[in-house]
Amino acid sequence: MQFEVIAKCHTTRARVSRMKLAHGVTSLPTFMPVATQAAIKGMKILEEAGGAHQFQGWKHNLLTDSGGFQLVSLNKFTKITEEGALFASPFDGAPTMLTAKESISIQHTIGADIIMQLDDVVSSLTVGPRVAEAMWRTIRWLDRCIETHEKSGKHDVQNLFAIVQGGLDHELRDQCLQEMINRKDRVAGYAIGGLSGGEEKDVFWRIIKQCADKLPEDRPRYSMGIGFAEDLLVCVALGVDMADCVFPTRTARFGVALTFNGPLNLRLAKHASDMGPIDETCPCPTCSDGYSRAFLHHNITIETAAAHAVTQHNLVFQARMMGQARNAIIQGTFPDYLKSFFRNYFGDQG
Ligand code: GUN
Ligand code: ZN
Repeated sequence: MQFEVIAKCHTTRARVSRMKLAHGVTSLPTFMPVATQAAIKGMKILEEAGGAHQFQGWKHNLLTDSGGFQLVSLNKFTKITEEGALFASPFDGAPTMLTAKESISIQHTIGADIIMQLDDVVSSLTVGPRVAEAMWRTIRWLDRCIETHEKSGKHDVQNLFAIVQGGLDHELRDQCLQEMINRKDRVAGYAIGGLSGGEEKDVFWRIIKQCADKLPEDRPRYSMGIGFAEDLLVCVALGVDMADCVFPTRTARFGVALTFNGPLNLRLAKHASDMGPIDETCPCPTCSDGYSRAFLHHNITIETAAAHAVTQHNLVFQARMMGQARNAIIQGTFPDYLKSFFRNYFGDQG
């Protein structure tokens, strides 16, 4: 990976950078949409297809998560041991272990440009010794992931990120940061994990700030599971370069369209005969091909064409917002951009 900071905000820690990966150059800060259905089911097919890029016909960059977080958050019976995440196979219920080594091998088969270490994630509301245990285990698993990755011969095209854990405890976060910074030469970038699990906003912001301040300048910083517009901009102001979340796609399926004047609930009766688009200024196919709010209101249910149309709009909204943030950072107007964004987004919609 090539990573280069090209502009910095003078009053916040926001920065614009260019990240060159095997499938092209990406301008950061960026928001990454989440696709969940390419899952384990297709490993053999994926192998035959030559990876997820070929399989999906996607020519651009891809990132995969390591799987442990998904196993834990989707199934309460998943057990974390020192070896890995133990879960019931979705095919036959047989106990199956996802180890650090296995996670990296699977991610090698998928072939994404950025791959994530296996980490031990606890809910951000967890307290007590389990938080420290998870953090130290995450460091041990990072070492196993690095070892597997370096031996693979794939580390020239795929880039491994470490994930800072430690819950809401600043001391644990510091210890984790130190350990992971010590391994800087062996990782391509850093994620901040274990957040957005129901903690207070100011606690969340302080952890992001602490991590972003200490992480190396010359590595991308990725806040995992962050997707509300306001959170993204605060994270960017604190020095975050990448984020992902199911929020814009999930909320679309529930009939919520994102706009610069705040989220729009298309299921509300007031949209039933509104022939205007979601957003007149939006270049997305949904807004420019004449989908009216009224049409979307009458047709929106999960998995319909209307749901897909709103999904597409919401992803374009996230991309426009991040693009505007990048431009503002480059032009030296990022603080003004923040002010006007928040005024519009949370202001009276009239
Ligand atoms: N997605 C959201 N948060 C996390 C996290 O802490 N770890 C991983 N691996 N994925 C996540
Ligand atoms: Zn649109």
